[in-house]
Amino acid sequence: MAPKSNVLIDPDFDLKTYLTSLTREVDAALDRYLPKATVKPATLHKAMRYSLFAGGKRLRPALCMAAAEACGGNRAQAMPLACAVECIHTYSLIHDDLPAMDNDDFRRGKPTCHKVFGEATAILAGDALLTHAFEIAAQCRGWRRYGHKDVILELAQSAGSQYLVGGQVADLEAEGKKVTQPQLRFIHERKTSALLCCATRLGGMSANCNRSQLNALTDFGFYVGLAFQVIDDILDVTQSSEQLGKTAGKDEAVGKATYPAIIGLEKSRKTAADLTRRAYKALDGFHGRVQPLRALADYLLKREK
Ligand code: IPE
Ligand code: IPE
Ligand code: MG
Ligand code: MG
Ligand code: MG
Repeated sequence: MAPKSNVLIDPDFDLKTYLTSLTREVDAALDRYLPKATVKPATLHKAMRYSLFAGGKRLRPALCMAAAEACGGNRAQAMPLACAVECIHTYSLIHDDLPAMDNDDFRRGKPTCHKVFGEATAILAGDALLTHAFEIAAQCRGWRRYGHKDVILELAQSAGSQYLVGGQVADLEAEGKKVTQPQLRFIHERKTSALLCCATRLGGMSANCNRSQLNALTDFGFYVGLAFQVIDDILDVTQSSEQLGKTAGKDEAVGKATYPAIIGLEKSRKTAADLTRRAYKALDGFHGRVQPLRALADYLLKREK
């Protein structure tokens, strides 16, 4: 899609380089924010670090940083918020993998947290990462338009019972049932899209973005988040466990409600592309450097893991 004239384009922009440098910075910041593995109780801190540094793609921090930069902000200001979102995401994965939920043995190319540390410690490592996210977010500077209250509210709502956790409950309740497309959309909006949207919005807030920029980032994050889960569902069917670093083919085996299960692979691919187009559209007329955001949306659509 051709970018609009008011979009700042850098002909040398390379997403791979961008993501590599960003991931390095995010990993270093997470390392600083997290208690060392030797801090008592060491088992807990080891488990938190085990999952956090197992090799996630860091896409939510990337969206947060790219949104900040699109609004003229910088990585240092966005960093606590990007790290807070990644802690919430990692907690959600640890709990998602528990035997009582999706019962997965592999995550991020390694045995799951509960396989290594036991279920009790994995539950508590998840709890601690979720709580620690708010400790990290509270260290942000606060901006003229957005204070600490706005940031905390944003994180709490996106992670809470009406979004991430609510979506996980709806996902589990849909297992083995005949699910309609609107019901599946309800699940995806909550379990996945809400946190990606939150990451994008927080990036904008960290740059003290204006109301219209925040609205655009909200729509962008929402549609990218939806496309992201459709692709996750597709990859579960089309890729190997080695490629994904998590157990492939499990959704069908346990009767999960997914797009491929309801509308088939081809229509699912089309749906993901349509959602990504909507995300691009949200950035039409956006004043700022939206190139990294666009490139990220494109990468998320075409990713193979
Ligand atoms: C997996 O998210 C869980 C979903 C919401 C689909 P990612 O694919 O971003 O997982 P990591 O962080 O790279 O491990
Ligand atoms: C996970 O969805 C969503 C959250 C963790 C909130 P999935 O259950 O599809 O994620 P994977 O496939 O296990 O990564
Ligand atoms: Mg799940
Ligand atoms: Mg799962
Ligand atoms: Mg999945």
